Amino acid sequence: MLSNHWKTTGGARLPENESLRLAALERYEMLDTPPEAALDAITHAVARLFSTPIGVITLIDRHRQWFKACYGTDLREIDRELSFCAHVTLPEGVTVVADARSDARFADHPMVAGFPYVRFYAGAPLITPDDFRIGTLCAIDMHPHDVVDGSDIDLLQALAALVIDEFELRFVGRALRHKDIELVLSNRALQTTQHALDLALSASLTGVWLWDERADTIHLHPTAQRLFEFSAHESTVSRARLMEQVLAADRAQLQGALEQAQQSGYLAPLELRLGGGSSSRPRWIEIGGERSLAKSDPPFVGTVRDITEQRQTQQTLRQLERMAAVGMLATGVGHEINNPLTFITSGIKFARDVLAESLEHIEMAAGRIENATLAELIEAMRALDDANEGTERVTTIVEELRWFGRGHSEQLAPTDVVEALQFASRMAAGTLKHRAQIQCDFQALPPVHANKVLLSQLFLNLLVNAAQAIRPGDATHNTISVRTELRDTTAIVAIEDTGQGIAEDDLPQIFDPFFTTKEAQEGTGLGLSTCLRIVRELGGEIDVQSTLGVGTRVRVMFPTIDPNDMPAESKQYLASRRPPAEHRPRVLFIDDEPRIAEAFSRLMRRHFEVTTTTRAQEALAWIGAGERYAAIFCDLLMPQMTGVDFFEQLQRAAPEQARRVVFVTGGAYTGRARDIVEETKSPFIYKPFHTDQILEAAAAAQAA
Ligand SMILES: Nc1ncnc2c1ncn2[C@@H]1O[C@H](COP(=O)(O)OP(=O)(O)OP(=O)(O)O)[C@@H](O)[C@H]1O
Ligand SMILES: [Mg+2]
Repeated sequence: MLSNHWKTTGGARLPENESLRLAALERYEMLDTPPEAALDAITHAVARLFSTPIGVITLIDRHRQWFKACYGTDLREIDRELSFCAHVTLPEGVTVVADARSDARFADHPMVAGFPYVRFYAGAPLITPDDFRIGTLCAIDMHPHDVVDGSDIDLLQALAALVIDEFELRFVGRALRHKDIELVLSNRALQTTQHALDLALSASLTGVWLWDERADTIHLHPTAQRLFEFSAHESTVSRARLMEQVLAADRAQLQGALEQAQQSGYLAPLELRLGGGSSSRPRWIEIGGERSLAKSDPPFVGTVRDITEQRQTQQTLRQLERMAAVGMLATGVGHEINNPLTFITSGIKFARDVLAESLEHIEMAAGRIENATLAELIEAMRALDDANEGTERVTTIVEELRWFGRGHSEQLAPTDVVEALQFASRMAAGTLKHRAQIQCDFQALPPVHANKVLLSQLFLNLLVNAAQAIRPGDATHNTISVRTELRDTTAIVAIEDTGQGIAEDDLPQIFDPFFTTKEAQEGTGLGLSTCLRIVRELGGEIDVQSTLGVGTRVRVMFPTIDPNDMPAESKQYLASRRPPAEHRPRVLFIDDEPRIAEAFSRLMRRHFEVTTTTRAQEALAWIGAGERYAAIFCDLLMPQMTGVDFFEQLQRAAPEQARRVVFVTGGAYTGRARDIVEETKSPFIYKPFHTDQILEAAAAAQAA
């Protein structure tokens, strides 16, 4: 028996291709593996073939000889230097040693000279298919043998080849198993990827659809299914069914594109609207696709994504760009207009002041002037006043344009809401008058923290909306009422129309920028969004109530400023804007000729707070309602009710006011008039009147 304590020096030289040979050995992964019956059987066969007690399969490793299979020994490895077999791994072929003691190569070998006294050795190399000698199949005996038969050597070689075949089998089997595992692994990876892809696809905003061109059906991934508004069970639909979801107006376009895609294999990105489904608002999608080059089934792969927001943003941007351009233009124009406007305004003001003063001088110097001349001069003043109002309006518009152009508001200060409302009403008058009767009910309000431009812009938008809600041509049956009201410390402006009203579905959107139900030339849909911005900027609120077919009421609410909390400069500002009405006595002037009343008013307004009317009845109504005057100037000759009739009625209704009547006459007065004047000693003045005369008469009336 061999045992594993042999050690010596020397041994076989290394083969030239040693490192490749070692690699070839390692490839089989046989070293240090457990015994295998098939290989053990071969060693047994070899021992039988040569009638030896030992047969082994050895593998020549880098530093050792390892026994893969053994018959007749339990030795597992020995040092390579002690190896007999290492010689066999050299390219010499089969080695047969009949008696080692008489063989020059082995006589001194420790296993020959000493224990276990090897004498006979027959070994064939294990040659791999790529021609590496990785070990041996050999038979060993402690007794010398006779010369070996050539056919036994052939058999030994065949058995060695069989060993290699066994090795190869294991190698290929192992490789196959690896491949299998790789396949399983890559399959699993594929499934994971597929799963991730599915997840990504359903989470993605882009939907995927597959078109089976032969069956003409479309399979939709979840996102695509959602985008097209198909129910969960409609994941594969016909082309006709798909078309139903597309807005009718866009169907032909998609049909055409799909037909073209069938020929070219490419569906160029196409933007269209979906609106056939349940949603009331059309949504924009972009659809595109391509026939896959890989022979996948179905081969046409498409994508679809929702671009509604994108289109809205684009549209908004375009509008904003346009508006920015308008703004720049407006700023430029505003600047250009403002210069000439300054001297036009000051010119008019100068001419008007000179004219007013001249009128007074003429009256004071000459006492009287001709009726016709006076009328002409008054006409000229009136023309200048109109021109002045015109320039004021232009100034405001330019101011607004420049404000608009700058895109931010003027400074805020205590502002009179009613004044802004009146201004806006004047501006809107042109549009309003053909559509409705305007009812104004303005209660004076404490100031609010705002500015006139902002407030005017706000009210103008609301008034124009009210007007536009009413068809023109039936003004007598429609009204737009504008009211102001103070509730606690809140100023409320209500604008109510009898127009078409707002649909319930539209109501939540009317403050959205660009939401409009109007034709392009009538509305951009920016009015209410601007109103909302202004109201918020001023710390107020806005609410809308509407009934379709009945009308709409918009209310704007602002916190008012408590005069006690007002900073000194604000009080000053307000004071400068209000005439000191309380210091002037109130007088009433009644004349059927409006220009005369106006001339009186102009002449006397620095002395009195003047109210005028062309109808005596109206004057009676006011007094009946409690109005009181320091003096009442009344023309004697009026077509509907004469001065005398007025006087008599007043005597009955309010005798203390009748005592304050001053009669105005264009010349002689006769009959009842003269009697009354003489009887009552009422003061009277002649036309055209003179300031001093009027003041004197007023003083007399107040003293009465
Ligand atoms: N008084 C109203 N009566 C009926 N509908 C109204 C009224 N006010 C607003 N709306 C509705 O609200 C929509 C939006 O109003 P908004 O003022 O913002 O825009 P617009 O009037 O359409 O256009 P723009 O004001 O920019 O010229 C209108 O198109 C209209 O449908
Ligand atoms: Mg509007």
